Amino acid sequence: MKYPKDYLDEIKTRLKVSTVVSKTVVLKKRGKEYVGLSPFKNEKTPSFTVNDEKEFYHCFATSEHGNIFDFVMKTQNFKFGEAVKHLAQLAGMQPYMFSKQDEEREKKWKDYLSIYTQYVEFYHDELLKNETYSNARDYLKSRSLGKEEVKKFKIGYIEKNPNFFNKLKDQFSEQALVESGLFYLDEKKKIYVERFRGRLIFPINNISGQPIALGGRIIEKLDYLAKYINSPETNFFKKGSNLYNLDLARKLSNKLDHIYLVEGYMDVLGLSKNGVDNAVANLGTSLTDKQILTLNQFFDDIIICFDGDESGYKAALRAAENSIKELKPEKQISFLFLPNKEDPDSYVNKNGKNNFIELTKQSKISTHQFIFSHYKKLTENNPSSMAIFEKKLRAIASTIKDDFIKKYVLEYFLEKISELTPHSNQNKKNFYVKKIKSLDSTKKYFNESKSLTGVELKEFSLLYLLINNLALLQANIHLIENIKLFSEVNKQIFELILVKLKSGKQINIEDLNLDKQLLEKINKFAPIKYILKNKSNNNQKIIELLEDISRDLMNYDLEFRIQELESKFSKDMSEVTFNEIKELKKKQNIN
Ligand code: UTP
Ligand code: MN
Repeated sequence: MKYPKDYLDEIKTRLKVSTVVSKTVVLKKRGKEYVGLSPFKNEKTPSFTVNDEKEFYHCFATSEHGNIFDFVMKTQNFKFGEAVKHLAQLAGMQPYMFSKQDEEREKKWKDYLSIYTQYVEFYHDELLKNETYSNARDYLKSRSLGKEEVKKFKIGYIEKNPNFFNKLKDQFSEQALVESGLFYLDEKKKIYVERFRGRLIFPINNISGQPIALGGRIIEKLDYLAKYINSPETNFFKKGSNLYNLDLARKLSNKLDHIYLVEGYMDVLGLSKNGVDNAVANLGTSLTDKQILTLNQFFDDIIICFDGDESGYKAALRAAENSIKELKPEKQISFLFLPNKEDPDSYVNKNGKNNFIELTKQSKISTHQFIFSHYKKLTENNPSSMAIFEKKLRAIASTIKDDFIKKYVLEYFLEKISELTPHSNQNKKNFYVKKIKSLDSTKKYFNESKSLTGVELKEFSLLYLLINNLALLQANIHLIENIKLFSEVNKQIFELILVKLKSGKQINIEDLNLDKQLLEKINKFAPIKYILKNKSNNNQKIIELLEDISRDLMNYDLEFRIQELESKFSKDMSEVTFNEIKELKKKQNIN
């Protein structure tokens, strides 16, 4: 059985080659490509490359070459069908079920694609060459668009009385032609009419670059006609699933980590003409989760830049409230607001690429900042209005799916609210913040022994100091008696030493009956010994070091408790937990 091409294409679209390969090969970015050690050969220097843009991997050592399907077939010994199943799952898609209907659908898809391709090619050529279409070319010129953009975006023009239906009707069934959405039946005249007649057409491509729908703009202002129309939804075109220009823009994802999301075709064209090619448009509908997920597969940062008018602002707000729930730690969505009445097309044509990029840097704000500032504008300084405000923000934060993002966004909201209500927060304003760094030299030796954790090494240093300065510490027991240790073995020894010291009797190291192996380990790994070696170790110095270690251990303890509370908070979202975290963080800062 053959898998339909659109199913395979969708898998390829959703999974970058580097995503698939990096499951088994460690890859390093080098320019546009990734490099790594070949999985097909035992080697010490990397000769294996991955190119996401071109959608293949290549091994210079073995000449192995292929796409994601080849890769899993070769590295995991899968048959093609198994590779498809495996990758579909990785891409978050349903496994493909073969049936009679699927075969029919596959046939329909071929017809559909062929109809659209012929249609687009034909009218694109006409726009470029047909003498009588100078009105369309003049219109494009008046919008600063020339041959280059027309070719790049395969723009076409459809005459007022076209007859392409007749050209196609020998190749395709009437049903196939009608289902394409390009034609409809005029009931009175009993003829098929072309939906886009008299319009400039902008092909909307699927992610692989094949035309699956059209947008069309009138070139003469006529009140009874909509300025833009789109293909209706068809078997193969769903509005909320597609984005205009994604097929071209996604190819930039190796170079750029951000993508502009704009409202209109003309915005994409205007930006492209001015050298900003990482832009897509959402076809005049509101933004869907699917569109965000698709964009995030290629770009970490989505910058939503709608028109600088009221409807653009409203659309942005809807997008913000809808998309905030999908935020992930490594993905960002931000908003760029343009000056009054401008849209990306008009702005970039007036001010140029550099100005637009500078504006992005200066003025883009993240989703939660936008939402906060929007609702703040609606809020008055009275308890009732403030209460509604806080409730609304809490409700929005609670829709966020990722626990960590949820926590930080709520924290941001509550922090900002508390800035608006200084009276209820006076006590926290002036707390003393002092940060003493732990000695760099201590830190440096932390990493020497990989099997030991940082805390264990700190504890070793503490024990090392104790064992070698028993008399000094017996006289200064207050410095150590409240220290908390984490690892069980170290803790036991520490407590044993404490008891002996507290007894007041003079003791030496043999009296402690320490486990030999442990003692060896302490002597070997305690990072502090390197510091002690180089210094003249007077008592003052020892006490300073001890304080240093004790403070670090205290901070580990705080950190640990904060982490526990934070995971609790992400579940209960309660103010009590939130305040507890804040208190601990305060202590951490004072330390
Ligand atoms: P705009 O009216 O902002 O388009 O609509 P624009 O790009 O600024 O158009 P120009 O500059 O006047 O040519 C934004 C998008 O909304 C959809 C289209 O997808 C358009 O690109 N739209 C707009 C429609 O679907 N129908 C309409 O009548 C108007
Ligand atoms: Mn616009």
